[in-house]
Parts: sequence; structure tokens; C-alpha cells
Amino acid sequence: MPDFTDAVTTRRTFAIISHPDAGKTTLTEKLLLFGGAIQAAGAVKARGDARRARSDWMKVEQERGISVASSVMTFDFAGCVFNLLDTPGHEDFSEDTYRTLTAVDSAVMVIDAAKGIEERTRKLFEVCRLRDVPIVTFINKMDREARDPFDLLDEIEQTLALDVTPASWPIGMGRDFLGCYDLLKDRLALLHKKGRGELPDPGEVCEGLEDPKLDALLPDYAVATLREQVDMVRGLCPEFDLESYREGHLTPVYFGSAINNFGVRELLQGLAEIAPSPRLQPASPRPVAPEEEAVTGFVFKIQANMDPKHRDRIAFVRLASGHFRRGMKLTHLRTGKLLNLHNPVLFLAQDRELAEEAFAGDIIGIPNHGNLRIGDALTEGEALRFTGIPSFAPELLQKVRALDPLKAKHLGRALQQLAEEGAAAVFKPRIGADWIVGVVGQLQFEVMADRIRTEYGIPVVFEATQLYTARWVAADDPLQLKRLIDANAVAIADDHDGQPVFLARNAWHLGKAEEEFPKVRFLKTREAVL
Ligand code: G4P
Repeated sequence: MPDFTDAVTTRRTFAIISHPDAGKTTLTEKLLLFGGAIQAAGAVKARGDARRARSDWMKVEQERGISVASSVMTFDFAGCVFNLLDTPGHEDFSEDTYRTLTAVDSAVMVIDAAKGIEERTRKLFEVCRLRDVPIVTFINKMDREARDPFDLLDEIEQTLALDVTPASWPIGMGRDFLGCYDLLKDRLALLHKKGRGELPDPGEVCEGLEDPKLDALLPDYAVATLREQVDMVRGLCPEFDLESYREGHLTPVYFGSAINNFGVRELLQGLAEIAPSPRLQPASPRPVAPEEEAVTGFVFKIQANMDPKHRDRIAFVRLASGHFRRGMKLTHLRTGKLLNLHNPVLFLAQDRELAEEAFAGDIIGIPNHGNLRIGDALTEGEALRFTGIPSFAPELLQKVRALDPLKAKHLGRALQQLAEEGAAAVFKPRIGADWIVGVVGQLQFEVMADRIRTEYGIPVVFEATQLYTARWVAADDPLQLKRLIDANAVAIADDHDGQPVFLARNAWHLGKAEEEFPKVRFLKTREAVL
């Protein structure tokens, strides 16, 4: 067994899923504070002018107040190395979020205590469930008027069909919220309150509910309610079962208030103790175990423009196995080329630094000029394909046109690059001069227009089309495919890799083509073709 096993077993690679406004940014910030990765609150989410200054490369971010970019944050706590993968909050970027979830081993689901399970939380939860990603729940904002904790547990259990067991229990709520009792350890650590941004010291510790210190530290009514409720909840909920959590059937629930630091340390401690270390990665022809000596990894995200001064692209690679060292040469399987990785980057809160070494579960960024794409595998030579990286059918199709017709050719190149990044699907109809862009959410058109203007200097407009949907077409018999293409020349386009696509005007048009060419497969995603 190689000697990096410890490095693997102490890795915790996770993401936070939540509905916008539930408190993901605040919690992220507090996790980084506890992990010592940042010194002051407010560093993650620069507010007001500071935020505008930081991300002035992307106007959409300013105008919409959303974070389009997502990143990786690494910090240490309780002997573990945590990799927190941020996910964009806006609905239109769900593709990115979904792909990010393929690169984590567990997730934290943040719920607003006044609102319970909201729509986005449920959708993201479903993605986690598809991949059996274990979930820890954090019920946030207990310092506000919140719903009854029993009610919230019941809702999680009912709407998500999950077993639920509280890992901590709130003492009071709203203005009377005093903190949380640790049910797993059967103890209470009262925090010495500090300013919002400062890290509190763990204060007095009470062992067990009968500890007389509890009566001395908390008001009578709070102790009585706590004892009564803990008694009840222990009777009602199953005991915490590690295996059931790891298999994605049970979620331990922490209550807290991220902004007041309540429950954050307990959550982090919980993740160190129970969250899984890197898992077996599904791949073809065989899954990859994290302890394997040879380095393997896959690209789950491409991001352009992280540094406005350098027009680089960063491919985010999740290492699936091995001990990676800077300067290694890895095979890029899609092209068969050897990549010399002399300047991979690690991400630390806001900064990047050179990655001297990394292990399974870590994310390294590889600067490149567009040769790396989502889903690509890197290995020390073995032919592997990582599976389960989702791709989505473009549901909205619009024509894109350069305002200056002389820039049409440059526009083609810009679109090609954006498609390779996974920002959108781009189709070039075989007849006519238009380009068609396919996306999942409307806002992606605006982001693209903005990027094409700022990054490539080409002002463009998007225009509505009569198109209903796009299907990649493939057939075992090339003649069948040729027949379809010949008979439907006006409806055929090529994607950025030259794969043929059928652009349907309406459901009937698609149905008719499927009926006439039963041996041709009409596929919703290009990954299905490759
Ligand atoms: P998000 O990333 O999930 O969208 O949520 P974010 O952390 O930005 O939090 C959304 C709002 O909820 C913020 O207020 C934040 O301060 C507040 N919040 C987060 N955690 C708690 C908590 O534990 N208790 C209470 N009472 N509020 C919390 P905002 O007014 O929108 O922004 P700001 O002016 O505070 O930045």
C-alpha cells in the first residue's frame, strides 16, 4: 500500500447546496474562518463597492448581483483537509452546479429555518441522490423567527424521503436562541459571544443533559424545554447510523445560525468525523480507487477569465487517484497527447498558488488554451473514461449575430471556444450563415453576449428562432444517417466538434423524423453520442 493513504483518508471534498439566500455564502465564510483560511468575515462575499471592484470583469455579475464564477476553497480543520467546491447560486447556472456535484464526495444542505425545503434545494438534492452523495443538513437562521424544529425535521423526511436524525438541538429560537446542544456527543459547549466576524472561543462545557452546570449556565425555562425536547426527539428519530448516512439514506441535521457562528464548529467537527473521504470513482472499463498509485483525474469544469489580465482558461480537475506532483506528465486521453503539468494551481480562498503535490479528492487547476474539455480524463497512460458527468439538453435556442458583419468569422471562433468550455451548445446550420446557440437557462444568453463582447471584442445580439429543440443524431449504419441528413438538409447543423445535429421546428417535426428514420438515434446530449 502506498504511503499516501493518510492523505486520502483525511480529505473531505464537499459542496454546499441551498436555495439562494438560505445562507450559503455566510456559512462558507464561517467555515473558512474556523478553518483558518481567512482572517476576517466579509472576505468571501465582498459587499457593496468592494464586490463590484473585485469582479468588474463581468458586468452581469454586477448587474444581477449573482456570482457566475465558482471556485474551490481548501482549508484544514481537526486533522482533515477540506476542499469546499463552491457552486453558483443562480438557477440558470445549474449545469455548472450539477457538474460540480460530480466532483464531490459529500454535500452540506443549507436550509433557511423560516422557509424549510425550497425548490432549488430539492432539485439539487435530487442530483445528489442520483449519485448517492451523502448529505449533512444545516438548518440556518435559528436566531430569527423560525419554524418549529420538529416540523422542519418532518418536512425533510417527508419531501426528500430521507431518514433524519438531529445531530444538534437548538436551545430556544429567534431572539432567545442561545446555541445548540450536541446530541451526538451529548454535550453542550456554550460560545463566548464575539462580534459577528470574530471567531468565538469555546466556553464552558457541560457533559450530558443532567450536568448541573447546565442549570447554572442557561435560564430555567430553556433548560426545561431542552430536556423535554431532547427526550422527545430521541424517542422519535432513529439513532445516527454512519453507514446509512454514507449510503445517502440518512441525513444528520445540525441547527445553527451561521451569522452568529452558532453550530458552525459542530458542523465542521461532524464533517471531519463522519463525512466520507474520496470515494471510488465510476469509470469505464473499471472504477478507480483513490488509493491507487497511478494518478488519474477528470475535468469537471472549465473557467475562463479568472484573472482578467491573463486570458487563460482553467480546467478544474478532480483527482481520482494517486499522488500528483508538479511537473508530472499525464496523458490527455481524448487527444492522446502528453500534458506537461508544470504550473498546476491550487485554490486557497481568494488566492491561487502553485500545486506542488495533490492527492485523490483534491482539485487542481490546469491553465490551458482550450485543449481540455469537460469530461476529459487524465491518466498516467491507462485508457479510462470517467462516467456520470452530466450534460444537459439545450432547451432554449437563439440565433446570434455580430453587430458588425465583418466580425462574423471572429464570432465563429469565439462561439467555438465557449462551446468547448461547456458554456453553451453552439450549432452551425449547414445552410445559411447563422449561428445557433442552445442553453438551459435564459440568463446564459446574457452572460454569453457579455463575454463575447468583453473577451473577444465583438458586440452581438441574440434573436429568437422558431426552433423547438436540438437532437444530436447518430446511427450504427452511416448510410441511415446520410439519408436523414440528405432528406432534411435545412434542419441539419454541426456542433463545435462537427457532430451532426437535428434542429426541430416543433414536436411534430421531431416525431416525424424519428418515425421516418427509426434506425437513427435522436439524442438529447452530445455525451450520449461520444
Ligand atoms: P446565499 O449565499 O445562500 O444566497 O445567502 P447569504 O449567505 O448571502 O445570506 C443571505 C442573507 O441571509 C444575508 O443577508 C445574510 O446576512 C443572512 N444570513 C445568513 N445567515 C444568517 C443567520 O444565521 N441569521 C440571520 N438572521 N441571517 C443570516 P442580506 O441582508 O441579504 O445581506 P447582508 O447585507 O447581510 O450581506
